[in-house]
Amino acid sequence: MQAHIVLHMMTTLDGRIITSHWPKDFDYNSIYEDIHSRLEGDGWIVGRVTMAEFEKGTPKPVSQSEPLPRETWKAPHASNGPYAVAVDRSGKLHLNVDRVNGDAVVVVLTESVPDAHLAELRRDGISYLFAGKTDVDLPEAVAKLHKEFGIKRLLLEGGGAINGAFLDAGLIDEISQLIVPFADGSADTHTLFERKKSTATTFALQTVDRLDHDIVHLRYTKK
Ligand SMILES: NC(=O)c1ccc[n+]([C@@H]2O[C@H](COP(=O)([O-])OP(=O)(O)OC[C@H]3O[C@@H](n4cnc5c(N)ncnc54)[C@H](OP(=O)(O)O)[C@@H]3O)[C@@H](O)[C@H]2O)c1
Repeated sequence: MQAHIVLHMMTTLDGRIITSHWPKDFDYNSIYEDIHSRLEGDGWIVGRVTMAEFEKGTPKPVSQSEPLPRETWKAPHASNGPYAVAVDRSGKLHLNVDRVNGDAVVVVLTESVPDAHLAELRRDGISYLFAGKTDVDLPEAVAKLHKEFGIKRLLLEGGGAINGAFLDAGLIDEISQLIVPFADGSADTHTLFERKKSTATTFALQTVDRLDHDIVHLRYTKK
């Protein structure tokens, strides 16, 4: 059985997602987090680049390790969610923390990740699972998150690359999109979905809510 997946993202009027240069007129992050809480996920999942924003300090890699099995490893404290999940196919993340925003971290890896990286994750108390040999098999990852971590409702929270991969894999059941009233003026081109497939995917509009600061909250479901 698969988890129900809700994409939750904040974009500009032109669908851009990099927030760093947006006007600081109001605290749009707290609005985003408030809706995140109301969506009641058992966990949230992000791409490697987005999760890297939560790294603490400098990388502390382990130089050597005995061979470790390519099997799910659950940190002792990680029996209950909600979980903060990162997709990191080749083991580039060095979070140095076992929780992000209070949620226990789980990393989705491929079997190609070096043993030393698995040893680093175990040392840091970070749970991990495997989905795929060198490329991440997203349906397998989602199925394991459900079966092994009890994640029945998963919030997909960016960035554009991982959102696009989930959409291409047909895994998005709902969209929760907050649109801020800015047209992005930067050279940045990151958008809500960076897709490999070139066929359009249609969603059905469910609700439209006007929030403070002229933000619009759109809810869609899979058609
Ligand atoms: N506005 C919002 O609501 C919002 C929300 C979240 C994030 N963001 C912003 O989005 C930006 C990051 O976006 P992004 O698109 O560059 O990064 P991302 O989706 O977080 O991560 C991209 C990375 O994911 C890996 N990846 C790509 N396709 C994959 C696939 N099919 N399977 C497995 N892994 C795959 C690649 O990592 P490898 O190189 O390791 O293979 C790629 O570099 C950040 O600036 C963040 O602040 C905005």
